[in-house]
Amino acid sequence: MLTDLSAFTNQYEFTTTQDWFTHNIPSWKSLFAFITSPKPHILEIGSWEGSSAVFLLTTLCAQGGEIVCINHFDLMCTPMGREHHRKLSQNLPQTGCSFRILPQYSVPTLYALLEEEIAWDTSTGFDWVYVDGLHCTDDTLLDAELA
Ligand SMILES: C[S@@+](CC[C@H](N)C(=O)[O-])C[C@H]1O[C@@H](n2cnc3c(N)ncnc32)[C@H](O)[C@@H]1O
Repeated sequence: MLTDLSAFTNQYEFTTTQDWFTHNIPSWKSLFAFITSPKPHILEIGSWEGSSAVFLLTTLCAQGGEIVCINHFDLMCTPMGREHHRKLSQNLPQTGCSFRILPQYSVPTLYALLEEEIAWDTSTGFDWVYVDGLHCTDDTLLDAELA
């Protein structure tokens, strides 16, 4: 399980000087008891290099499940966007769990996911949603509402 980014540099490729995530671990663990699905379906808006996604896959999804990661990666138009996509694409398979990476802006992607949910009548929605994309209030609220 991921607890400290610096301890996982061998297995995962994270920028340890920029940790957006590990401060969440105690509060998230206290919420896990509310997730009743044995194979949780997770949505993450804003994945960056994947530290929160790796944590969710190796804890909540340890017995199965899937994460859908939305991140725009500058639409692959910048070296930084492409590098973050490369790291995410390298880190998530290391967990051995199921994942989808949707390399687009959140709003059009969330509409597309909504269409998928409607089209696939076996779909059960999401058990856990992490909204960590753009942090301006309006954008965060819009992402949360669409999610
Ligand atoms: C704080 S970082 C995410 C950190 C990640 N959850 C973690 O714990 O390591 C925010 C990410 O959201 C992405 N992002 C920001 N606004 C977005 C949007 N509107 N749609 C998709 N991705 C977005 C950024 O490119 C960045 O990679």
